[in-house]
Amino acid sequence: MILRKILLTNFRNYSNLELNFDKKINIFTGNNAQGKTNILEAIYVLSLTKSHRCNKDLFLIKQDSLFTKINGEVNNNDLTNKYEVLINKEGKRVSINNKILKKMSNYISNINCIMFCPDDLEIIKGSPSTRRTFLNIEIGQFYNNYLKILNEYNKILKSRNEYLKNNKFDKNYFDILTDKLIEKNIDIYYYRKEFIEKINNYIITIYKSITKKDKIKVIYETFVEGDNEQDIRYNLREKYDRVFDSELYQGMTLIGVHRDDFSVYIDNIKINNYGSQGQHRIAILCFKLAEIELYKEKNINPIILLDDIFSELDVRKKASIIKYINNDLQVFITTTDLNNINKKLTKNADIFKVSKGKVTRGEKDE
Ligand SMILES: Nc1ncnc2c1ncn2[C@@H]1O[C@H](COP(=O)(O)OP(=O)(O)OP(=O)(O)O)[C@@H](O)[C@H]1O
Ligand SMILES: [Mg+2]
Repeated sequence: MILRKILLTNFRNYSNLELNFDKKINIFTGNNAQGKTNILEAIYVLSLTKSHRCNKDLFLIKQDSLFTKINGEVNNNDLTNKYEVLINKEGKRVSINNKILKKMSNYISNINCIMFCPDDLEIIKGSPSTRRTFLNIEIGQFYNNYLKILNEYNKILKSRNEYLKNNKFDKNYFDILTDKLIEKNIDIYYYRKEFIEKINNYIITIYKSITKKDKIKVIYETFVEGDNEQDIRYNLREKYDRVFDSELYQGMTLIGVHRDDFSVYIDNIKINNYGSQGQHRIAILCFKLAEIELYKEKNINPIILLDDIFSELDVRKKASIIKYINNDLQVFITTTDLNNINKKLTKNADIFKVSKGKVTRGEKDE
């Protein structure tokens, strides 16, 4: 997957910016607050229709403008497609090859990208909802159908929660809602379980190549249990029966995949709660590097976004990132200081200088 071109209109501090990318490695360099991250963010929004660093779409619109638009051309298996994400006060509109798509879930997963940024360690040490959001975004990119099913789950969940607060309560109707929710629980459970199993297939090797140790494991934490679908259905039904009185009392659904979480264990210690900053950083780094391998398994080369991460990593970690992203992948890197980046990367890279929302193709500093 290669992003050939990107066009920003009223995005963050850019009025109009057009960039063409000829090389695999692209480095944006410049002082703080000039607009480096904004470019990576734009690529992320073009892929996922949402920002990685804020959940208010309207903040993406350049101050005093009415809308923002990101256009991009992505080359994949000799085919070039045109993508567009448009955001204004009324909402968001996405299109592929000038055809507007009604459902966001049909847009996401067409462009695959993996973002590495300094805030990543929040994924490990933050709240379960931060991890769930992360998992949903990553799995949604990986399996085409996942977001559609997740939307269906959330709709049923909403109806069920509303019904739990309803004065006229019909247990038969409620049971129908519960059955529907159970089926979606099962679907989502299998996606998440498979994804985390696949991550575990790679994460040990990756962790070992960086730290020389191999005791790392990602654990999927869920209410859903059982060896097969029938088992799971039976268990869930029983669990929902057991919490029925509490659910009615509290007026909300207390169990289900909307409460799922995952944790990372290093040396048999759950680092979400007990890990050091360095362990949080290495865990999410290895997780994301494992994701790259997952894509490669499907013959997909995701676009890699590395936002300001080289300044915080030691030499060994830098080297291993380079090892995993080398050659096949298109990479976008931001840095305030080119010296932080391995010469092997800068040698083959296009360097862009970013200053006050203007971008110029720079000469390499020798
Ligand atoms: N909606 C917006 N409208 C106009 N300008 C904005 C908007 N959002 C952010 N900016 C501006 O964008 C700049 C920050 O850009 P960005 O985060 O890309 O900086 P950076 O070059 O990555 O800096 P650093 O090296 O500190 O990470 C700031 O000057 C900020 O005021
Ligand atoms: Mg930045």
